[in-house]
Amino acid sequence: MARTLDAATRKALEERLRFYGELGLTEFYRRPVDPSLIVECESEPIDDAVISIAPHTVAEVVEEPRPETSVQEDQTIPPRKPFPAAPQVAAAVPPADRVSALRLIREDVGDCTRCALHTGRTKIVFGDGSAQARLMFVGEGPGADEDAQGIPFVGRAGQLLNNMIAAMGLKREEVYIANVVMCRPPGNRTPEPAEANTCSQFLFRQIDVVRPEVLVALGATAATYLLGQRQPLAGLRGRVHGFRETKLIVTYHPAFLLRDPRQKKEAWADLQIAMHELGLKAPPRA
Ligand code: URA
Repeated sequence: MARTLDAATRKALEERLRFYGELGLTEFYRRPVDPSLIVECESEPIDDAVISIAPHTVAEVVEEPRPETSVQEDQTIPPRKPFPAAPQVAAAVPPADRVSALRLIREDVGDCTRCALHTGRTKIVFGDGSAQARLMFVGEGPGADEDAQGIPFVGRAGQLLNNMIAAMGLKREEVYIANVVMCRPPGNRTPEPAEANTCSQFLFRQIDVVRPEVLVALGATAATYLLGQRQPLAGLRGRVHGFRETKLIVTYHPAFLLRDPRQKKEAWADLQIAMHELGLKAPPRA
């Protein structure tokens, strides 16, 4: 007889999957099981399909044969189809016009209803910080605190991000911070590809206006949508990638670092790559 997954177990399972996602383990396959052990979900079932994310387009769902073993952290997931040509880079906006250019993008966002996330949001969380920042951080999407205040990274993960920025010898007001999606996903789940592809158009426009010298992708979701491909985070860290004309560095999401502080050392190593690219020296420790 099938069992029902209670809300607490489902929440714990979602949290665990999110934790694995931060590690870069983003694909899971269900092995054949005894039908009597199949668990029924209270709401919509979790699809077994593997989602292939193409850059800047709505991803299609691709059915794949299920391997017997699960994906290893260090395993590279090859792209399943060629990537479309990189989107056009908008003409550079003179520094003096960047604030108004960002305001125009915010006006274009409006009281957005382009994807389902709008139904659960309190506030749209647009990018925040200096329009002339040399360094830009990209997270995944607002949590409860951000949803309430309309500002990215103001909760516990935001406190840690502030500390990371300070450790780099910078002030939060000197950098620009944005997310892949601007509305809080229910229960802080990972944004669906359709949601991320829709909303990231506005992220890319902000990047085009600010033109940071270095972008830091915080976590697997930001890395996926900036790189236009999904790979385990572990294989993306520790080197310089590119997003259009901007150097891109991938590191752990602060929320993941709160759960596993042992990885802070690794994140600091990534931030030092960003500092090197920016010609910054870490301030002496207090
Ligand atoms: N996590 C994110 O990815 N973004 C925020 O703004 C806050 C938490």
